[in-house]
Amino acid sequence: MTYDPGYTNTAACKSTITFIDGDKGILRYRGYPIEQLAEKADFLEVAYLLYFGELPTKSQHDDFSRMVMSHTFIHEQAKKFIDGFRHDAHPMGMFLSTVAALSTFFKEGKDIFDERNRLIQFHRMVAKMPTIAAFCYRHSIGMPFAYPDNDLSYSGNFLNMMFKKTEVQYKPNPVLERALDVLFILHADHEQNCSTTSMRAIGSSHCDPFTALAGAAAALYGPLHGGANEAVLRMLEEIGSKDNVPEFIRQVKAGEGKRLMGFGHRVYKNYDPRARIIKRIATEVFEVTGKNPLLDLALELERIALEDDYFVKRKLYPNVDFYSGLIYQAMKFPTEMFPVLFAIPRTPGWLSQWEEQILDPDQKIARPRQVYLGEDERAYVPMEERSA
Ligand code: ACO
Repeated sequence: MTYDPGYTNTAACKSTITFIDGDKGILRYRGYPIEQLAEKADFLEVAYLLYFGELPTKSQHDDFSRMVMSHTFIHEQAKKFIDGFRHDAHPMGMFLSTVAALSTFFKEGKDIFDERNRLIQFHRMVAKMPTIAAFCYRHSIGMPFAYPDNDLSYSGNFLNMMFKKTEVQYKPNPVLERALDVLFILHADHEQNCSTTSMRAIGSSHCDPFTALAGAAAALYGPLHGGANEAVLRMLEEIGSKDNVPEFIRQVKAGEGKRLMGFGHRVYKNYDPRARIIKRIATEVFEVTGKNPLLDLALELERIALEDDYFVKRKLYPNVDFYSGLIYQAMKFPTEMFPVLFAIPRTPGWLSQWEEQILDPDQKIARPRQVYLGEDERAYVPMEERSA
């Protein structure tokens, strides 16, 4: 056996979906560099690429988009699950519970070895995640749900369901709509990270994809993974001003229970290429929304950390979560929604990885071994003979 906590050196699958070279800061989906996809593609095109392995032709793209956008509604009874949560429930808790509940609406999802059936669930899940996410938000602020507008783009419709008020048709700001679409592209897949590994591990028991995806979303929730974008914002708010940065860095280095959230990565030992793109998008978004006042603080934190021996030696660089929260906040998404904003675009990635696993004859039910260090066999002691 190999003892490898956190699987730092264990490949559990072969994959053709996403390539990362962490030392060089390279990320590619199906061979296409993330920089090119972020500049030229749209999110549904990337979702298609991840799932089918090739970029769609114009007609394939149109058909796929139409198919996804025709599945955006959720069952009226699914809405009642969201309604049942307290007003101050965390949106990620509501989100992943509602995704799990969807498995009870689409029972045929269990038929995982039927190709067409898997594809239908893929369309459904990519389509319904923004709806569930937006409904969770509207519930938390006591606003009526805004129904999908399938004439809008995928990202435009999400903005519509989040922010529509009394206007007859919501018109998303094109710069913000495109920025959100690019952020979605950057989050769409990232090979065998914690949540994808959960998706594969749960899927390896051959349950339906809704149930597996709810588990993957649960893994994403934690502050060391997709919850880091929320944690970054809370950290910046706690630091408060540039003057407090040196003291904060001192506490991080002294190991006083603090981490520089949004920094470091298991695989990237170089600048996360997604963080570079996000910095560029931030400039475009702030031209529309006005600059997020926390930006200067984040830049100062990055500047000091990148010059500091502690971070340099450990190869700790900003990751995707360091700047994404600043953009989301400027776009008026509440901080608690940030992990949900990660789960929406990761859905095609999770499902593509799940599909790959289902079709891989090498795969078996996930069942790691352990190194047992407990007691050897011993005889049961009656309660009256036990000492404290
Ligand atoms: N701040 C301060 N020190 C850090 C940080 C950080 N953010 N990240 C790692 N280190 C230090 C560790 O203390 C350790 O130091 P040591 O060798 O003196 O003990 C060393 O760097 C190696 O760290 P590990 O925790 O062993 O690295 P691992 O690969 O297990 O962790 C992780 C990666 C979880 C991302 C970590 O860097 C972290 O906690 N970062 C902050 C949370 C975060 O931003 N998560 C988002 C990741 S991206 C994503 O999931 C989308």
